[in-house]
Amino acid sequence: MANVAVIGAQWGDEGKGKVVDWLASRADLVVRFQGGHNAGHTLVVGDETFKLSLLPSGLVRGKLGIIGNGVVVDPEALLAEIDKVAAQGLRVTPDTLRLAENATLILPLHAALDRAREAARGDRRIGTTGRGIGPAYEDKVARRAIRVCDLAEPETLSDKLGELLRHHNTLLAGFGAPTFDKAELLDRLLALAPRILPFAEPVWERLDEARRAGRRILFEGAQAVMLDVDHGTYPFVTSSNTVAATAAAGSGLGPSAVGFVLGIAKAYSTRVGAGPFPTELADATGQLLGDRGHEFGTVTGRRRRCGWFDAALVRQAVKVGGIHGLALTKLDVLDGLPELTIGTGYRIGADALPHLPAAPGAQARAVPIYESMEGWSASTRGARSWAELPAQAIKYVRRIEELTEAPVTLLSTSPERDDTILVRDPFEG
Ligand code: IMP
Repeated sequence: MANVAVIGAQWGDEGKGKVVDWLASRADLVVRFQGGHNAGHTLVVGDETFKLSLLPSGLVRGKLGIIGNGVVVDPEALLAEIDKVAAQGLRVTPDTLRLAENATLILPLHAALDRAREAARGDRRIGTTGRGIGPAYEDKVARRAIRVCDLAEPETLSDKLGELLRHHNTLLAGFGAPTFDKAELLDRLLALAPRILPFAEPVWERLDEARRAGRRILFEGAQAVMLDVDHGTYPFVTSSNTVAATAAAGSGLGPSAVGFVLGIAKAYSTRVGAGPFPTELADATGQLLGDRGHEFGTVTGRRRRCGWFDAALVRQAVKVGGIHGLALTKLDVLDGLPELTIGTGYRIGADALPHLPAAPGAQARAVPIYESMEGWSASTRGARSWAELPAQAIKYVRRIEELTEAPVTLLSTSPERDDTILVRDPFEG
């Protein structure tokens, strides 16, 4: 199994950045296949901290980055990110980054609609990142999206913009939001085209070649299984499929190319945005986890909601996400807690369920079934071998493996790249 896909196994922000960075150093190509600049990965390399949201993380390690067709690309955000990392000394050129010519573009009107709709939802808002991700995917499925390749055909672009604006201006006006002028938008896009088009190509061809040459491909997922548009806590989800199967369709390869699926899970749970969170802690322990874990969104800066590890939820993510092994992160945040609690299932009224049901009402009413275990007092921070971990911490990890029905492939014990206990190399299958 030469390739690896990394996906989040909870609600995102599981610490994918560090794991992806480590794996990227062992890969030849790194591919983004879904999501957009709603994602946020922090990579620490020497003295530099790179905050990436659209660029594949491997670029920082000098690996070829590919933005697949399944990604929704805001061209202005992409260029701004390229300029930002250039100021940090990382040059991104068409030699180091390729962009699927058939990827959907996010335009300013998408962010405007995203925000107008969220404002109109009031208390029922989803808590989106406001970046236009949902509206862009809607346009893709509705077959009216502007794609990267359209930038090369001004006439096509003009026609398509006309159709798009008929739809969006009607909607925006309905929400009382400012509308967009076609000529202005066309000029804005045509001005971007000379910088965007040199990156564009049929990336599926390059990926096919890489695969046949036996090169190692790392698929870098964004968000997480519980934010998947089908399998997550709908409607409090993102607008793409975040499961590993999407790595194939979102980049132009067949399903067998995906390889080993590594699911990232935090040793506790967090969530940004609204939606069900059965094991959420609204008390001092939740506050403590947030403070110790520095739980603030990379993209939004919002404080993340915190709670106990929900093994039932991660087991569900393991099944629907096709996860072969887990990378468990931030175990050290639990150091010193006298007692730890793990969610093992849910109670809804008189019924006990092993998984979270799909209906929103039932999800909101689901009360976790908990089991408790003794914590540990010694520090796990920076441990690089099992021998350095307290016995209770190992017991906690083993219990997570049992309950989630997935082996822990990798254990991360601090933000530092080398503070990792590797059980099995995902690239070795
Ligand atoms: P959207 O993807 O901006 O439409 O946001 C939909 C939901 O997904 C909201 O709850 C966001 O907070 C959440 N979300 C989107 N991207 C991320 C991410 O990278 N990490 C965690 N949550 C995210």
